[in-house]
Amino acid sequence: MVRRLNRPQRLRGQISPPGDKSITHRAFILNGTATGSAEVRNFSHGGDCHSTLACMRALGVRFEEVEDRLVVHGRGAHGFTEPRDILDAGNSGTTMRLMSGLLASLPFRTTITGDASLRGRPMDRVIGPLSLMGATVLGSGDGHARAPLIIQGGGLRGITYDLPVASAQVKSAILIAGMSAEGETVVREPAPSRDHTERMLTAMGARLRVDEREITLQPGPITAVDITVPGDFSSAAFWITAACLHPDAELLILGVGVNQYRTGLLEVFKDMGADVTLENQRFVGGEPVADIRARSSHLRATSVGGQIIPALLDELPLIALAATQAVGTTEIRDAAELRIKESDRISATCAELTRLGARVEELPDGLIIHGGPDLQGASCSSHGDHRIALTLAVAGLVASGETVLDGAEDVSISYPEFWSDLDSLGETNMQTATGAS
Ligand code: S3P
Repeated sequence: MVRRLNRPQRLRGQISPPGDKSITHRAFILNGTATGSAEVRNFSHGGDCHSTLACMRALGVRFEEVEDRLVVHGRGAHGFTEPRDILDAGNSGTTMRLMSGLLASLPFRTTITGDASLRGRPMDRVIGPLSLMGATVLGSGDGHARAPLIIQGGGLRGITYDLPVASAQVKSAILIAGMSAEGETVVREPAPSRDHTERMLTAMGARLRVDEREITLQPGPITAVDITVPGDFSSAAFWITAACLHPDAELLILGVGVNQYRTGLLEVFKDMGADVTLENQRFVGGEPVADIRARSSHLRATSVGGQIIPALLDELPLIALAATQAVGTTEIRDAAELRIKESDRISATCAELTRLGARVEELPDGLIIHGGPDLQGASCSSHGDHRIALTLAVAGLVASGETVLDGAEDVSISYPEFWSDLDSLGETNMQTATGAS
């Protein structure tokens, strides 16, 4: 699907972003593994979370839609049934890796696959630790490190594992497997990554201790808990960036999860001089939440790298976009993981921002962005990647002239409501400087 974008005269209003994708996956998987039933409110309706839902249903977990809530009837660790078919994680790395942790603990054989993008992504990072725990996990393709994965689970033992790269997905897979292993499981991270699994497991009564970058889990049953999913910071980030870059903008983004391991973009934007404030800070479902107000800003260049990277990895295409409009040269390093996301996001970001008139250089582990030139609308492509599509949509709201985005439907993986949210900002906003709509 092609979508045409023009810069609106002004960008003002309020947005409630969709429920957090990472937390929704965990609410479905962990409640499904728990004993008892629980409600999940404000869950993500994105394609990725539908993939998790379908996999859990195939294992016998019952999900009931009651108005805007989903009631999960947990099976307990021993109540799953062998699926009749191959499980499909679609485009979702989180589904594939977290489900692998669960499948490794179940006493039957399953196969899990995904779309072409997911089948190209590395799975050795979960195959390694889950095999050490005693599961048989057979990968496919290059170095047997890709999906489809055939997993014969059960009879696991706890391990102590140093993650070679900071990854919340791999950490979570090991912890999920560790819940029904014999003996304790210890996971150490080289840099802090999102801790939604640890928070949710603790709320469900798991015996889990977090000490600096080391997590220790004692196996045992968990109890289902009701979860109200906060708004997704990664979705809010598109509006924050749009408001900062547009010359006449003020957006209030409501009910956004501001877990410190997700909000690295706020630190970088603060450094760049962005006018972004957090209001009405509170806790929802054990996670910090705030309303975020973002206004037109004059940005200066910065450098991004090191331990903050996992807290902003998904937002780096947006940070690169912001850097195109900043004074000076911005360098992004230590982000080689970006190359193995839904697309190679380093080369996709470089290629698409260049088409829009930006001056960007590609590095093996990042980007150099020479800020300054105004973006000019052009034809550009999502590369089949939801976050690239959304970044280009934001670019289209600040570029002069028309931006023609091919792959606009890809936003539905994480933010299916994006185009209607954009329309909801209203007619007046959407009038372009030249009067076209
Ligand atoms: C996620 C973790 C991150 C992130 C992804 C979602 C999660 O991936 O990029 O979008 O929900 O755990 P890695 O853990 O592979 O870095």
